[in-house]
Amino acid sequence: MEQFDVKAINRKIRDNLPFSHRWHNRFHIEMPFGLINDPNGLTFCNGEYHIFYQWNPLGTVHKNKCWAHTATRDFVNYRVPTLAMHPTDEHDKDGCYSGCGFTEGGGLRVLYTCNAKDENGVRTPAQRLGTYDGDVVRKDEIVVPKEEPGYTAHYRDPYVFWRHGQKHFVLGAQTADERGCVVIYRENKNGAWEFLGELKTKMSESAEKFGYMWECPALLRFGEYDVLLCCPQGLPAKDFKYQNAHQSGYFAGHASLDSMEMYHGRFTELDHGFDFYAPQVFTHGGRHIMLGWMGMPDRDVDYPTAEKGWVFALTMPRVLTLRQGHIFAQPVKELRALRIEENAVDIDAQDTQNIAVPLGEGAEILLDLEFGKAQNVDIELVYGLEKTVLHYDKKAQVMIIDRSGMKLGGRGTRKFKLYADEKLALDLFVDRTAIEAFFEHGEEVASFFVFPEKNILPEFVIKSDAPLQSVTGRVWELAAIQFK
Ligand code: FRU
Repeated sequence: MEQFDVKAINRKIRDNLPFSHRWHNRFHIEMPFGLINDPNGLTFCNGEYHIFYQWNPLGTVHKNKCWAHTATRDFVNYRVPTLAMHPTDEHDKDGCYSGCGFTEGGGLRVLYTCNAKDENGVRTPAQRLGTYDGDVVRKDEIVVPKEEPGYTAHYRDPYVFWRHGQKHFVLGAQTADERGCVVIYRENKNGAWEFLGELKTKMSESAEKFGYMWECPALLRFGEYDVLLCCPQGLPAKDFKYQNAHQSGYFAGHASLDSMEMYHGRFTELDHGFDFYAPQVFTHGGRHIMLGWMGMPDRDVDYPTAEKGWVFALTMPRVLTLRQGHIFAQPVKELRALRIEENAVDIDAQDTQNIAVPLGEGAEILLDLEFGKAQNVDIELVYGLEKTVLHYDKKAQVMIIDRSGMKLGGRGTRKFKLYADEKLALDLFVDRTAIEAFFEHGEEVASFFVFPEKNILPEFVIKSDAPLQSVTGRVWELAAIQFK
């Protein structure tokens, strides 16, 4: 087991804030060093949104998994992150893996997966409770010591939810025949956790398996509907789907915990960018607020910041709403406080084929674009000789995100269906390297990194094959979130 000097690590975080490297983001949560992955333990407690996340403080590789912690009241001012939990004993010596948070008796509790491997590399996953004491997570009892018969040791990432006044959790699992699924546990009256079994989806009936493992599940309620979020691994890529190494998405429908069946529509991805995985959701004040990991497992070569000592970020917080079986995601309205109105630029162009606006170090571009005769529109972020293009083909109703014009980091394209009629609505957030694009008021979203080789601020450019009828909107410079 590695040695974790909590005081020294926390001091090192403080000493390295605010960030100085030009690849560090300004309004995305990042760490000055180490590797971030999944958001964990998202809980609103005592007036604050608590955000934990997977973090390796000792390097930029997937090892030494700990939980970092920060908290915010407004998604603009954050506590300086700290190391909140690290491997300490035989149960979690190979990682404090992902888990959730919830409130109990006025306090913040967590439930996480302890990862331990024996000398032959055989894993034992245990699900353990913890209590956040305002400083660190105190580890409490193990509630499920290992996987149930019929499942492999890929058995992790508990997410607590309530049904009929009883506490439950859903867990990502793999069956012995290597099919991804979720299982559910329920806390009974005497505090013991009972295994309810697999939540059967259409996928469990079909002969073809839907991925070999489902990670990071959550079972959420949107009015009368149940939504199962999960991250299936190993889906073969299709024309407009599943183009990343691993996917994050949801099934919307109705789940019965009596029959342990879920009736649902098709699996829909939550984000179409290159760098989005393992999201988690807070439910508070009538909102479902999601944060995702901006990164991708098994694609380490795509992230050149690793050489600079840190890698990955979290997405901006997004509010999820379910409309006609589809999840829309929009940035929390609190983020509007980052807009600097003084030097905002209005765009109000008619009959135009070329728009160019220089951007600052962080920007939001909110636009409505009326196609008129244009069929092909390129929305570009130009960094000198490099560029990233969002290409929309109106006829095909396809959006293509193309990073092949960048020199460093991951390249290639991502394609997805985006239905736009006469006009396209875009809300684009351009941080130093992390970009989030919300299309059609959040009907589709794409998150991805770009790592400009030169120290050049981007220019936002729109080009089209025929004049666009109109382009209207506003471009703001955005202030940075603060760690205090
Ligand atoms: C998803 C994941 C989880 C696991 C964690 C470990 O990215 O693989 O399944 O708990 O990361 O860091």
